[in-house]
Amino acid sequence: MKLLIFLVCLSTTIAVAQTKKPAAKASPKPAAAPAKLPGQLIYEQNCLTCHQANGSGVPNLNPPLRGTDWVNGDKTRLINVILKGLQGQEVEGDAYDNAMPAHDFLTDDQIADVLTYVRSNFGNKASAITAEEVKSARAAK
Ligand code: HEC
Repeated sequence: MKLLIFLVCLSTTIAVAQTKKPAAKASPKPAAAPAKLPGQLIYEQNCLTCHQANGSGVPNLNPPLRGTDWVNGDKTRLINVILKGLQGQEVEGDAYDNAMPAHDFLTDDQIADVLTYVRSNFGNKASAITAEEVKSARAAK
């Protein structure tokens, strides 16, 4: 009889331990790896090599995306940088040797997401850009 009680207790302990484990493991996960914004992945795949992960750019080659008038100013002008590329322009008074290639292969949604990401990161606090705004800039191109 004693053995039976012992076995029942043991199996209950194991069952409790097993049900508790996944719950305890699951909670720290979101804090360790916060979900990426949709635009961040597009940035990493299409812009990061030139403009760098923190938007600092590379001196004399690629301009920064931090606090520039191009990023935070007129939306249509900014959308056109992505649709048409850019060359021979000064950014905040500095010239850059590289040319920015057109990224018109990105969809309206992808361009809206990546520009919204850029305009709300790297210290920028400009408003979001919508797929509709990209669509009309593309139509007027
Ligand atoms: C091959 C390198 C390269 C890639 C890739 C690239 N850019 Fe650029 N970008 C440049 C260069 C160089 C300029 C400046 C061109 C000039 O001097 O006229 C520029 C200019 C800009 C500007 C306007 C100036 C400023 O710094 O505010 C923005 C905004 C911009 N890029 C955003 C992006 C975004 C968003 C992506 C990804 C979708 C991207 N770029 C991909 C090289 C690149």
